[in-house]
Amino acid sequence: MMNFQGEHILSVSQFDRESVSRILQVAQSMIPYAARQKRCNVLEGAILNNLFFEPSTRTRISFGTAFQLLGGFVHETVGQESSSLSKGESLYDTAKVISGYSDVIAMRHPAMGSVAEFSQGSSVPVINGGDGANEHPTQALLDLFTIQAEMERYGKGIDGLNIVLMGDLKHGRTVHSLSKLLSLYKDITVTMLAPKELQMPDSVVDVLANAGHKVTITDTMAGNLASDVVYQTRIQQERFSSKEEADMYRGHFSLNKTVYEQYCKDHTVIMHPLPRDSRPEANELDTDLNDNTNLAIFRQAQNGVLVRMALFALTLGVDEKLTQYEKPVTWFTNK
Ligand code: NCD
Repeated sequence: MMNFQGEHILSVSQFDRESVSRILQVAQSMIPYAARQKRCNVLEGAILNNLFFEPSTRTRISFGTAFQLLGGFVHETVGQESSSLSKGESLYDTAKVISGYSDVIAMRHPAMGSVAEFSQGSSVPVINGGDGANEHPTQALLDLFTIQAEMERYGKGIDGLNIVLMGDLKHGRTVHSLSKLLSLYKDITVTMLAPKELQMPDSVVDVLANAGHKVTITDTMAGNLASDVVYQTRIQQERFSSKEEADMYRGHFSLNKTVYEQYCKDHTVIMHPLPRDSRPEANELDTDLNDNTNLAIFRQAQNGVLVRMALFALTLGVDEKLTQYEKPVTWFTNK
């Protein structure tokens, strides 16, 4: 198992199965704090710098919330235009400076490999919050945590999972990281459902195939959705050369009540990293599924706080000290 203390979290390729289990286990132990049954101030005085050079709601806010739930301070920089990167400063120099102001850094950036490049100059752990179309390791971990929790309700685990990844698999970093993480488990069946032009990169398919898992590549929904989990993704418009090009692929694989009833199993769990594009023309994951109890998307987003709390505790070496720093909650809460 990896020793997390002081490590950067840049790619899911860093993990073996045991390390992933440890992260999920620490995430589980964060539930009472996130649910406001108890407080934990084990990171009191510690400073997180959240550097988000690409739009984000969940990832940025849940990183911040996770750190604050453990008692730490959060500083935020949002948008390249408000930092000296826009004056030509290198990622390396920026890291040299900001790591001097921080105990840990979370970063999102539009360029592939940028967070790894930044980490070279950092004296503190850097956690990748998404580097272009490359990877999104914390999302994959929260997706895995969610799969584990949802499958548990049906007496299943992650081994033996049958999952459909659907939508923009070419540009979607969440499905790249999740596929690689799933390859560590046993007997996984993955259906890659996408328009031919937006299919999963071979390099990712190979990781699953080389680990002996069953991968089906298809562009047809009929007959291919009877799985444990359907994981829908958004067309990553910002990674296309134009809106017109992205528009060509919208609505091809809309998951709605009719499709669910026709092709999914009774218990197929619906996941999506969010944001779902709710504009009518997007036609992606329909709101007519909102009352379906297997729609796990908001539980999934909530789990992001737990997993990010776990990564902070592990990289800052306090994962064994949580109970020592507990306090009661003094305010009204109905969580
Ligand atoms: C995803 C991302 O940024 O890659 N969002 C997220 O972090 N939950 C997915 C997306 O933007 O479509």
